[in-house]
Amino acid sequence: MDLDVTHPALSDLRARARRRMPHFAFEYLDSGTGRELGLSQNRAALDAVRFKPAILGGEIEPNLSCTTLGHSHPVPFGIAPVGLAGVLWPDAERLMAEAACRLRMPYGQSTVAAAGPEETGPIVGDLGWFQHYPVNDPEIRRDMLARIKASGWRVLVVTVDVPGESRRERQRRAHVSMPPVMTPGVLASIAASPAWALGMARKGVPRMVFPGSYTDAVSGADHFTHAGRVIRCFPDRAYIEALRAEWDGPLVVKGVQDPDDVDPLLDMGVDAIWVSNHSGRQFEGGPAALDALPPVVDAVAGRVPVYYCSGVEGGLDIMRALALGAEFVFLGKAWYFALAAFGARGIDHLHHVLTADMVANMTQIGAGAIADLPGRLIPGVRR
Ligand SMILES: Cc1cc2nc3c(=O)[nH]c(=O)nc-3n(C[C@H](O)[C@H](O)[C@H](O)COP(=O)(O)O)c2cc1C
Repeated sequence: MDLDVTHPALSDLRARARRRMPHFAFEYLDSGTGRELGLSQNRAALDAVRFKPAILGGEIEPNLSCTTLGHSHPVPFGIAPVGLAGVLWPDAERLMAEAACRLRMPYGQSTVAAAGPEETGPIVGDLGWFQHYPVNDPEIRRDMLARIKASGWRVLVVTVDVPGESRRERQRRAHVSMPPVMTPGVLASIAASPAWALGMARKGVPRMVFPGSYTDAVSGADHFTHAGRVIRCFPDRAYIEALRAEWDGPLVVKGVQDPDDVDPLLDMGVDAIWVSNHSGRQFEGGPAALDALPPVVDAVAGRVPVYYCSGVEGGLDIMRALALGAEFVFLGKAWYFALAAFGARGIDHLHHVLTADMVANMTQIGAGAIADLPGRLIPGVRR
């Protein structure tokens, strides 16, 4: 099957993933919170960024390579951290880490992944970005950081936009819960997803391995309750300062949307700022994530890199965020749609789709390199 013919866009991968995943797993991946205004606002803000088409520019071969935090990458996009990815697709963490290594992309692994840092760190090598959810106990935090470091993760990403649980009504309706509650509907949708079910039977029930290793509960509801408690904490300034003192590699803060937060964070010594609204999963009453990007970029004023994620669905969207000042762009849901659609081959295919889409669109606007993108924005549409 030539996937470029049958599944040329992310929307095709999402549609196939939906057919292959149990309903609760798809809803966990796909949904926003509330009325899901966050999702539509993210989409609208991306669509509003327009470029000037170019003519008479001669032949162009767009170069997508970029450097960030001292590493060069062939393309300016990577994999955002996704909690309990192993629920979305069996063994997702290992498959993503392998793909990241193969494709030379950063792979973000969540604190609440279904694999621990020791399992995937050696696979992903120097492309590992470990995501940290603030933990209550400083001793646990220090031990976690030591284990993350010892298993080879290069970058630490601390997520600050989850001060509490969001309602996520769509997930409630779909019986998304940890551990899963086996209603007749849930059982029926598992039975209707044989590839997922077989993989799960082989791999075993996904657990929050890393926080869970700090509790003595081993399985079932207790495991999730206790593992959840380990990571309940809304960080303050002192927390970020402690992390800075305890982590000697690059430290990235994810979930920044207010330019007023930039100076304090840079004073604390963080190495990069990641603009995101968690793809509308936490709060739908704020700005579209892309609308928050230019003010944050202005406040940063070139002192550290700025990253972007939320709502990116194709190469043109990546160009939009780069043109507005992001140095690197991450996608979350997209990689897991691709994985659920076609396994590891799907990840490679999505990488191809995003790359080809960037090349095609950069050619249309006469941009030979990422640095050319801001100059091709239509004045007045943005910035
Ligand atoms: C199912 C799911 C789980 C997520 N879990 C985490 C997490 O554990 N930690 C985190 O920092 N972000 C988490 N995120 C947010 C992503 O890192 C990222 O910000 C977001 O998915 C990007 O938007 P996109 O999915 O529209 O590309 C999660 C997102 C999804 C879809």
